[in-house]
Amino acid sequence: MLYLSSGSAGRILIADDSATTRALLDRVLTARGFEVCAVADGDAALTAVAHERPDLVLADVVMPGLDGYELCRRLKADPDTRLTPVVLVTGLGDRESRIAGLEAGADDFLTKPLDSHELLARVRSLVRLKRYTDALETADALIRSLALAVEARDPNVVGHCERMAAYVTWLGRRLGLCDHDLTVLEQGAYLHDVGKIGIPDAILMKRGRLMPAEFEIMKTHVLIGERLCAGLHSLSDVKPIIRCHHERIDGSGYPEGLTGAGIPLSAQLISVVDVYDALTTERPYKGALTPRQAFDELQADVDRGRMPGEFVTALADVGEETLVELARAAEATGTPAVETQPAQAVETQPTQMSSPTEPVVAALPRLFA
Ligand SMILES: [Fe+2]
Repeated sequence: MLYLSSGSAGRILIADDSATTRALLDRVLTARGFEVCAVADGDAALTAVAHERPDLVLADVVMPGLDGYELCRRLKADPDTRLTPVVLVTGLGDRESRIAGLEAGADDFLTKPLDSHELLARVRSLVRLKRYTDALETADALIRSLALAVEARDPNVVGHCERMAAYVTWLGRRLGLCDHDLTVLEQGAYLHDVGKIGIPDAILMKRGRLMPAEFEIMKTHVLIGERLCAGLHSLSDVKPIIRCHHERIDGSGYPEGLTGAGIPLSAQLISVVDVYDALTTERPYKGALTPRQAFDELQADVDRGRMPGEFVTALADVGEETLVELARAAEATGTPAVETQPAQAVETQPTQMSSPTEPVVAALPRLFA
């Protein structure tokens, strides 16, 4: 596949069975510095999107084979292309086509006969948006890579982030959290310790207990992590997790010694799975507890007023077998097992996904509201 011209304003894929329309769109767009690739049907468009990664797809509704709606639907269903804007070209005043286009996930519409000013305005706007989301995704991916690099420095905690992500997203589903909150919790599982990048190896990988002065340095990882993510608006809901995941209900945690409801619920949830994973995995200075032993330890902390009882109970209610299986799957795939399961599959496992307890639900009208 060759782009018909080169430029830097954006990469546009045109899918239209009319050679005249393709030539018109190409002429208008290349004159304004866009790179243009043109194909004559929806199937060729799908192939071109996979290879060329355009910033925007401009598709006619009526095409041989895959039509514009189906092309749009498939692009929006694919995680790799769901953020690629799709503009459908419809007939004048064709209300039903627009409704069908919206249902297929189209981002915008152009009406025939095409107006070059309207075309350029819409294309520029959507390409700008696409590049902005690309930049955000790149920044998020960079921070996540950083977090995994931190984990890789210490072979004793490899897999910690993946297991936490699996536990907390599964738990979040049980608690009835929305997709946004589940995403934030997953990000928090990966990023909670990103600030350890600033902790010296001698302290981070020390075998045995830290001296008081060393522990003071270790405690700074929550503030370093918060600063690392400070400029990323897309992580605004994750930053409280990074800062507060070592706070404890009774005020004995750090960095601020917050108490009770003063600790963000998201950080409380992460703290529970963080401690559970630390207890159930082997470290140089201790063996791995069984899930039952770990919950006994957690319950002791609940009784002392340190840990949130409702979240510890909710994690215990997930079931030991499920937690062990989640850990195994996360270690095997490097991704949370819960993400790979369709929602329907999750809902059809009554023993694992029974209704959460009422007090927990009442506490969570919306986690990050
Ligand atoms: Fe931490």
